[in-house]
Amino acid sequence: MDGVANTADGSYWINYGKAEPGSKLIDPPTLDKIVAADGETRDVPFLTPGDLHPEPRLIPYDRYFDPKYVALEVEHIWDKEWQIACREEDLPNIGDRLSYDIVNKSYLVVRTGENQFRAFHNSCPHRARKLCDHKGSGTGIQCGFHGWMFGLDGKLEWVPFEQEFPHVTAKDSSLKEIKVESWGGNVFINPDPNAAPLKEALGPLLSHFEKWPQEERYTAMRVLVKVRCNWKAAQEAFMEGYHVVETHADGMPMFGSVATRIDIWSEGKGYVSRLCTPGMTTDPYVSHKVSPHQGLILYCNAQELPLPPDDRGQTPEDARKYAAQAKRDQLQKLTGRDYSNETVSYMIDMAKYFMFPNHHPWWGEGLPWWYNFKPLGDDPNHSEMEIRILLPIPADGKRPPVPEPIRVDFDEKAADNPALGATGHIIDQDLANMNAVQLGFKAAPPEQAFLTTSVYQEAKIRRFHEIYDAKLGLNL
Ligand code: FES
Ligand SMILES: [Fe+2]
Repeated sequence: MDGVANTADGSYWINYGKAEPGSKLIDPPTLDKIVAADGETRDVPFLTPGDLHPEPRLIPYDRYFDPKYVALEVEHIWDKEWQIACREEDLPNIGDRLSYDIVNKSYLVVRTGENQFRAFHNSCPHRARKLCDHKGSGTGIQCGFHGWMFGLDGKLEWVPFEQEFPHVTAKDSSLKEIKVESWGGNVFINPDPNAAPLKEALGPLLSHFEKWPQEERYTAMRVLVKVRCNWKAAQEAFMEGYHVVETHADGMPMFGSVATRIDIWSEGKGYVSRLCTPGMTTDPYVSHKVSPHQGLILYCNAQELPLPPDDRGQTPEDARKYAAQAKRDQLQKLTGRDYSNETVSYMIDMAKYFMFPNHHPWWGEGLPWWYNFKPLGDDPNHSEMEIRILLPIPADGKRPPVPEPIRVDFDEKAADNPALGATGHIIDQDLANMNAVQLGFKAAPPEQAFLTTSVYQEAKIRRFHEIYDAKLGLNL
């Protein structure tokens, strides 16, 4: 069929083409108006407006590739800020542990109780071997080099041939602990002993997710993608909906990206922002050639929902209603939970929050995802994106085990992995730009070697760099 983009799961998207160059949008729709037309006034994103509107600022390209920023980021971000080390379900049993590696540092995170986690510098006090290479479990923590043994509380318990070490004491040679706190089933660590409690960094996330706790979700899929660009540039590609018009043009019949709403809050440390793109809304750039019904067919295909009968989705409002109800039915069947009281917006809109420096939890069922972006080692040109699909745990409370991560190496295509389905197609579209962006940072003439950000749609990126500049002490 002409214009069909095959996805790995065998479903298809009809490509209705891109926005015509030169076309202008007069008075484009807003998320608020689209959601108001659903006729629901509770639990919708515009009820929690942000209060920050970042000023224009200079964001030079060199911070994306100059190694001096790697060292500054370690000193002022990775050594100082709350960052996600894992999800709680990654360590289901007491004694389970994993290694959280960031730039050239490593921390060992271990479950020490039913609801308790601890984290330590991942380095043996004997001769430095990392105590946990990737993951493991056991009643104690034993070094793989000479067998020194530590309790789960980090206390040195046994040194083989101990008469060789009369100078070694548990007081001096136990593992050095760092701060750990959990929220929403996410385990955050902070190496700074003087760090303020996590809740200050979470700010409005605490109240916004209160009714929809992320700890009641499980990892249904986990993908680790190596990317040939700086971690900041990678995550910035997911901090605006503006790229949909070109990068995801075949998604325009079902994602109303021009109506994306941006909110940034000063609450807490001012670390939190959100974008919300309406789901099952045809972008006005293509609405003259795609009917709401045709857009709905694409949406249902991509989301694996039953296709609409001919009389459904004849108006934009009915297309959203049909999509939301199909999604409620799909999730109820999957989990046994009742979604009848959830709004259309909660079921299909795509609200992604961001917490500095790199945590991206999504709200709602539109795209129940979770992103995290990290530098890969100390090379500013490489990063790793972690994607999880977080589904509600079934009504019986049984949490399915975390699947092994799907790894997508440099230059591999996510869509080549059939398990990723339509997600692989979207990841490939997003990441196809990334290496070219990294190269473009270096190719720019000096007088243009800085980002040009839009007033509204790219405001979250400016907010990130406001915080970044302040943390790193950059005076531009
Ligand atoms: S380095 Fe750990 S026991 Fe020797
Ligand atoms: Fe994207």
